[in-house]
Amino acid sequence: MTVYALVPAAGRGERLGLAIPKAMALVGGEPLLLHAVRRLIEAGVDAVYVAVGADEVADAARLLGDLATVVVGGANRVESVRAALAAVDGDPEVVLVHDAARAFVPVALVQRVIAAVRSGARAVIPVLPVVDTIRSVDEGGAAIAVVDRNGLRVVQTPQGFMPQVLRAAHEHAAAVGLTSTDDAGLAEAVGERVSTVAGDPDAFKITTRDDLERAERQFGLGGVGQVSMLRVGTGTDVHPIEAGRDCHLAGLLFPGVDGCAGHSDGDVAAHALCDALLSAAGLGDLGAVFGTSDPRWSGASGVALLGEVRRLVDGAGFQVLNAAVQVIANTPRLAARRVEAQQVLTAAVGAPVSVAGTTTDGLGLTGRGEGRAATATALLSAR
Ligand code: CTP
Ligand code: MG
Repeated sequence: MTVYALVPAAGRGERLGLAIPKAMALVGGEPLLLHAVRRLIEAGVDAVYVAVGADEVADAARLLGDLATVVVGGANRVESVRAALAAVDGDPEVVLVHDAARAFVPVALVQRVIAAVRSGARAVIPVLPVVDTIRSVDEGGAAIAVVDRNGLRVVQTPQGFMPQVLRAAHEHAAAVGLTSTDDAGLAEAVGERVSTVAGDPDAFKITTRDDLERAERQFGLGGVGQVSMLRVGTGTDVHPIEAGRDCHLAGLLFPGVDGCAGHSDGDVAAHALCDALLSAAGLGDLGAVFGTSDPRWSGASGVALLGEVRRLVDGAGFQVLNAAVQVIANTPRLAARRVEAQQVLTAAVGAPVSVAGTTTDGLGLTGRGEGRAATATALLSAR
């Protein structure tokens, strides 16, 4: 018995409202798409075909490796499923269609759907009873009537099909321009009878921020819930002191003090902060992001680099909560301008930055006055 699964994951996640597509949103530090695919495989699925947005194909292929085949999805869910179906290579006995957004579907539910097709169902959907009272309303929002909820069900995925049923349903939908929020709807349109199995509340669809937070509480790292929405990062920088160079430190210019040598302005505090932010977001480090040979950043101010790093971190779906930097140097005397430095760095990072200074009691390269060092920590929250 071979079972294939098609996973539509090409939606933008407008209602979730992250800077990244919903399928790439993290729970327990890993994207929803990976959670979803792993559960399908654990349930015994032999091959998985994932449809993602054109811009995410490379990332998704890297993320999933051997676990799935990745294709470009379409403008709506039906088109994304059709794209995945077109990529199917082989002749499975059961085809499942499963939303990436239902990333925490229990393995037992997937197996119930497979078992139903195996025992003869042509199309099967997992359903849950409706627990709320349901009413119909008119256009003005006034209540008209209570709808008897006994005859109603909430529909989930994975939905299971005999392959020829799913193919015929999608061919018909394409021919007549039919769309539907699920595949059983398309199968019904070609006269198929759709049967049901018991769904599971854990197969809920992640649609809003509340849903993502619920997933994090329920399935995040070690059950620590909200905590894994938080990410910490560290950074360090050291530069040699060079006679006659301007001294830029913690976003300030210190007249009359020898500055640091380096590709940029030699601001060790700003550079350590950049690395802490990149580290927390999992984006690598300054060298990897900007490259020491990139002429655009030669002589760039540390504050300008921080601004650029903030933009990258933001684009990766993180908000900076706070950051701290400690400068290790004999000169200049930072204490007198600490508040000013904090203001400049806070403005650059867009979150509170605290600045501190220390010396090494004459020991090591900073103690001998050969160079300056800084270490930094940043705390981000996944949006
Ligand atoms: N989907 C898809 N291709 C589309 C639209 C949706 O593959 N063009 C997928 C989504 O990635 C998701 C599933 O269909 O796994 C269910 O859709 P939904 O929950 O509505 O996700 P989004 O469309 O991403 O969310 P939103 O409607 O809030 O933008
Ligand atoms: Mg949608």
